[in-house]
Amino acid sequence: MRVLVLYFSKTGNTKKLAEEIAKGVNEVKDVKCVLKSTSEVTQDDFVKSDGIIAGSPVYFGTMAAELKDVFDKFVGIRRQMGDKIGAAFATSGDETGGKETTIISIIQAFLIYGMIIVGDPLEATGHYGVACIGTPDEQTAINAVKLGRRVALLVKKLKS
Ligand SMILES: Cc1cc2nc3c(=O)[nH]c(=O)nc-3n(C[C@H](O)[C@H](O)[C@H](O)COP(=O)(O)O)c2cc1C
Repeated sequence: MRVLVLYFSKTGNTKKLAEEIAKGVNEVKDVKCVLKSTSEVTQDDFVKSDGIIAGSPVYFGTMAAELKDVFDKFVGIRRQMGDKIGAAFATSGDETGGKETTIISIIQAFLIYGMIIVGDPLEATGHYGVACIGTPDEQTAINAVKLGRRVALLVKKLKS
């Protein structure tokens, strides 16, 4: 079983959040975490994963073009993505800068890939995913681990 943690990050904030999420995935026995940036990810990574947690900086209230480009380019394998788990994360510059709208933009892509969407668990915030302004603080890091763990546990449940 495998979970892909995919991110685009220009100045490192979203990468740091991705690394925290990956820690949560790695806590779950029998689930392998693959942590990749948008420039490293392949179609094979999508097909071989049972869950994908994707994140982006907020760019004009939506996901960065680099992450959208991955979804656009991989459209050919869309039919192989049905019923995999999808979740999202984002970092922004401003408090009301568009974290949720960015998360929703990623979730929209996952829906169109036929995936099953989850937010962060009730033991975290019980909302859309994990997000922060700038670099993740201690609480965001804790919530990121919980999101990663939730997706990995769900993958395990679905596969058993
Ligand atoms: C082209 C561009 C557009 C951005 N648009 C927004 C925005 O709409 N709202 C916001 O809060 N921050 C915006 N930001 C700030 C980034 O979302 C923020 O600095 C983010 O944490 C950067 O992530 P990174 O370090 O992973 O690259 C923008 C930054 C850039 C470069």
